[in-house]
Amino acid sequence: MNRRTDTPPSRETTANRLLASSAKLSYDPDVDIDWDAPLEPGKYFVPEQLVTLYGTELWGRMSQEQRIELSKQEMINTISVGIWFETILIQMLMRLAYRKDPTTAHVHYAYTEVAEECRHSMMFGRLIDRVGGRPYRQDLRWYLLGQVLPFVLRGPAMWAATLMGEEVFDVLQRDTMRDENLQPIVRAVMRIHVTEEARHVRYAREDLLRGMGRVNRLEKEFARLVAARGALLLATSLTRREQYERAGLNGREAQRQARANPNMHEAFRHGAGRVVGFLTEADLIGGPTKYFWRRSKLIV
Ligand SMILES: [Fe+2]
Ligand SMILES: [Fe+2]
Repeated sequence: MNRRTDTPPSRETTANRLLASSAKLSYDPDVDIDWDAPLEPGKYFVPEQLVTLYGTELWGRMSQEQRIELSKQEMINTISVGIWFETILIQMLMRLAYRKDPTTAHVHYAYTEVAEECRHSMMFGRLIDRVGGRPYRQDLRWYLLGQVLPFVLRGPAMWAATLMGEEVFDVLQRDTMRDENLQPIVRAVMRIHVTEEARHVRYAREDLLRGMGRVNRLEKEFARLVAARGALLLATSLTRREQYERAGLNGREAQRQARANPNMHEAFRHGAGRVVGFLTEADLIGGPTKYFWRRSKLIV
């Protein structure tokens, strides 16, 4: 069996395969999702065991309606973070295309991925509206980060950030897509997202590995730092206080219980397992920045 970090094919080989896949299997959420189908009462929006308070003392005291409402708020929060992240990724991909040869398949695939991410963000926005929710705004520091990252991230550091944004959500969205007890419209959105994201992950992983052969010590440590800070940012964002408040809970107490919840830590480790395996093999988890990984609870 091939290791995940075996020498990747050339840039053009990867990009040509991904372009062929995009041509064969892409979606237009406007027409491929039945936006008029009614929501089904009594159904969760994410799998129950992935809700951050699942199994806590507070969860035991919540009514079924309140649990479902929290699952909806957490779903909205996740895709709000998804839109924020995709907007940054789009900028990074456009800057990559701007620097490189526009006749190459590598650049053509960057454009293709941008087009897919634009459709995803529209689809997520439409889903938030469809379930009767409001998007979560990221705080000012995050917006400033989003202004800076596209200018400073290149090569393996850029791909490490990309994979932190794509892979954890991808694993959790696969669970959501498969769970037949959930709202059908949410499952339909996740199915589209998961299908197209598989290509994005491959584009990022293979180019990260190509770049690793060329980085110096400092660049490698920087890529490690970016991945580790990404882990922490992810954990912080998924337990945002406001989502508990919108579900009618005491935000401070709910956030405290969620962050100490062993079930949630397990769900995080499950979601992060795949990217942690890849980044470990690529030698991008290690050294002092491992501290942030531990604090994020994405690894033990
Ligand atoms: Fe996406
Ligand atoms: Fe993506």
